[in-house]
Amino acid sequence: MDQDKEKTPAGRKVILSGMRPTGRLHWGNYTGALENWNELQKDYDCHFMVADWHVLTTALDKATEINENSREMYLDWLGAGLDPENSVLFIQSRVKEHAELFLLLSMMISMGRLERNPTFKEQIRDLNMGNEISFGHLGYPVLQAADILMYMAHAVPVGEDQLPHLELTREMARRFNHNFGIVFPEPEPLVTKFARFPGTDGKRMSKSLGNTIEISASPEEIRKMIKPAFTDPARVRRSDPGHPEICAIYTWYQKFMPEAVEETAQECRTAARGCVDCKMKLADGIIEHFGPLRERRAEYEKDPAKLDEIIRDGCQRASVVAAKTMEAVHSAMGIG
Ligand code: TRP
Repeated sequence: MDQDKEKTPAGRKVILSGMRPTGRLHWGNYTGALENWNELQKDYDCHFMVADWHVLTTALDKATEINENSREMYLDWLGAGLDPENSVLFIQSRVKEHAELFLLLSMMISMGRLERNPTFKEQIRDLNMGNEISFGHLGYPVLQAADILMYMAHAVPVGEDQLPHLELTREMARRFNHNFGIVFPEPEPLVTKFARFPGTDGKRMSKSLGNTIEISASPEEIRKMIKPAFTDPARVRRSDPGHPEICAIYTWYQKFMPEAVEETAQECRTAARGCVDCKMKLADGIIEHFGPLRERRAEYEKDPAKLDEIIRDGCQRASVVAAKTMEAVHSAMGIG
């Protein structure tokens, strides 16, 4: 494809990514996505979407919490440094065109292909859902494809778990372009490193495992969560030498206090430093690391009218792009 056509008027390639609003974000979300999104804002024309309709696929009973969780998600995003002036921060359900494109794309993928989607198969197994699967849940990747293609995204920053969905998106884009003429770029995944960040129990940090620390946590909460966190289980007594490479605390040092890593490893291996001291030192470092983020979040939290305006503005800007895309879709298909 012509290089210039792949770019926006500002000359930058387009990115879209999204998160489901299921509660406050934690350090795993931060290292696995937000930190990366922040960087991408410098080089790309970014769209970040609160995927609220997607929550309904697995948590219909939580529908009434979704609006509140979406606001919390904005606060975490803004605190983390996403820039509402530069990037388009919007809510999926406020841009109704997503529903229309979802419907049209649903005609361009087979049932069998969706049933073979590994992410879907895993979810059915993990959630024990059996026959309870909704039509909408099967269509999860079709809605996601609509999200991505709506903004003509060239790249989609995601964790590795989302790669099957990206592949499905590419298939639907190809099918559309093949049948109706080239409208959509085929988006590439940008896989995020550091996606497997350990939680307080040493396993991957994940809300469902209850081992998370929220990025908005207060200094007291941070200390409280770090105190009982997983360390080297072989280090029973204070005088036993430790093994930093298997300690969650050590991974957190590497991420949030790189300047203290060497000394920490050395003092751990020689038992010069005990785990309790080590954790409290880490807590201080992390409290400092997330200080600016917490303060920025609190500023926005104090001003709900400002937040409303940011949400309205982001959704409005997304709607303008969506209307344009649907015009191109209607004209290519000769319908609507
Ligand atoms: N499925 C994604 C997740 O669970 C959320 C999502 C919805 C998304 N739409 C998207 C991610 C579009 C990237 C692009 O995290």
